[in-house]
Amino acid sequence: MFQVTLCILKPDIVRSPHLFNEIINLILQRQFIFIKSKHLQLNRQRAEEFYREHQEKFFYSRLVHYMSCGPISCHILGRENAIQEWRSMLGPTKVYKTIFEAANTIRGQHGITDTRNCAHGSDSIEKAQREINFFFPEFDMKSISIYENISAN
Ligand code: PPS
Repeated sequence: MFQVTLCILKPDIVRSPHLFNEIINLILQRQFIFIKSKHLQLNRQRAEEFYREHQEKFFYSRLVHYMSCGPISCHILGRENAIQEWRSMLGPTKVYKTIFEAANTIRGQHGITDTRNCAHGSDSIEKAQREINFFFPEFDMKSISIYENISAN
């Protein structure tokens, strides 16, 4: 099934043009299409809002501090099974797990800590909708079928 997902390249990646280009190329090689892209910097309040489901976690403050410390690069990615495909390219959220099971993923290659783990990917259809709407409120989810046709050609 053709799907869309939200990809966020986190501050460490945006700060490094070499890594940024490498990851964009990997995404393109996996037949994703970039439907919309935005470079922006979250303030603390917006970062808190985005990650509000984690507000009781011990790492919440560290996470929102990091995600608001510099520019991020947000993308709506589309392809067959986009949510799962992007997350499998990324590898596990917890970087230590990549040592055993996913060394050849983006986080396995470039992740530094559980916070500085390169990139974000939505984990369900509902979350993808909410997260896309958070960064791209102007995007009409009903227009997805147009992109499905583009990706098929
Ligand atoms: S959890 O605990 O399973 O609900 O968390 P998880 O879904 O794996 O991760 C959600 C985001 O929290 C970040 N995270 C952390 N930040 C700081 N310290 C620690 N220990 C930590 N663990 C998880 C992680 O980077 C996830 O952010 P995203 O943007 O979703 O990758």
